[in-house]
Amino acid sequence: MNNQGRQDSVQKIRKRIEIHVGLAIAALVVAMGVGAAGFVYWGAYNVSALQQHTEPVFTVLNLALDRSIRQRAEEVEVPKLTPDMAEQGRRLYESRCVQCHGAPGVGRDDVGKGLTPVPPNLAHTAKAKSAAEIFWPIKHGIKMTGMPSWQFKFNDEQIWAIVAFITRLPEMSPADYQTMSASGGQPSRDVTTVSAPAPARTAALPDPERGKLALYGYACIACHRIPGTVGPHADVGPPLKGIGERRYIAGVLLNTFDNMVKWLRHPTEVDPLTAMPDLGVTEQDAMDMAAYLSSLE
Ligand code: HEC
Ligand code: HEC
Repeated sequence: MNNQGRQDSVQKIRKRIEIHVGLAIAALVVAMGVGAAGFVYWGAYNVSALQQHTEPVFTVLNLALDRSIRQRAEEVEVPKLTPDMAEQGRRLYESRCVQCHGAPGVGRDDVGKGLTPVPPNLAHTAKAKSAAEIFWPIKHGIKMTGMPSWQFKFNDEQIWAIVAFITRLPEMSPADYQTMSASGGQPSRDVTTVSAPAPARTAALPDPERGKLALYGYACIACHRIPGTVGPHADVGPPLKGIGERRYIAGVLLNTFDNMVKWLRHPTEVDPLTAMPDLGVTEQDAMDMAAYLSSLE
């Protein structure tokens, strides 16, 4: 064979190898795709809350959580956290958080047990995290855990009060906690003792983007299909597609902006027999949601 011929055959072999490798990779990708689809379709993944992730998966998920919060907490400005704030924070904490997270000398309630991931002991969190990193998950919640977002319940000031309380947890004994409870003067877990949620902002213009977030914050999507949102597609309430163009709300109220705000805040006052419950919606949040809903064609 001359030189030219040798080069040609080397090239042919190389080409053949490339084709084979290409096919092997394609086959592997398809096999993985089919495997993953089968894994999902045949329900191989065990979703039981008592089946903890394996140690490596747990570690990776925790790292993703920590990194995500740290990244977003960088933009949070921390105010001065005073003992007075911690007192107020204790009351809010006892009404909405102790059920899942417990407190010094107080165990978790039933909702805080049997959850995966388990709601962490926040004294531990307070030692490991900055105030901004504690604030962020309280305000925004944590997807795919049981941790709710509280921004449609508490304003920033109230959340900072809770953070002030949490940062004191590492030094707090059960006795300290009880004394604090006593001097706080309010019986525990009575929702009426929590100061009414102040509006997140004062008299702001209706903000449809914030309103869209509120549809998740108030769990509207659990009962309604709402264009632009992702949810369980349950038709407990009517689908809200085209609600902006409908003449009546729930068949009883003329569909104006003010009437929509009224409906969202107190549906059972408008119609005592309605199956839509009162959800404790604030004026501002109702205005923001009404602004979003009015845009739906
Ligand atoms: C229904 C149960 C539940 C309630 C109620 C709840 N949490 Fe949580 N919380 C969780 C879970 C679950 C996590 C996430 C655990 C994880 O993935 O590490 C969490 C995480 C957190 C974190 C982040 C902890 C960390 O180590 O990074 C903070 C801070 C927190 N919660 C504070 C609060 C506060 C304050 C309240 C009350 C306003 C509250 N939680 C109410 C279940 C709850
Ligand atoms: C527990 C289920 C449930 C939840 C949660 C719920 N709704 Fe409803 N909603 C209903 C039902 C049922 C109706 C029908 C009421 C009627 O006709 O009397 C309704 C009616 C409505 C209507 C009028 C629809 C029409 O066709 O006229 C609007 C708008 C609406 N809901 C918006 C919301 C928003 C926004 C939220 C969250 C703040 C919400 N709903 C939360 C069940 C729910």
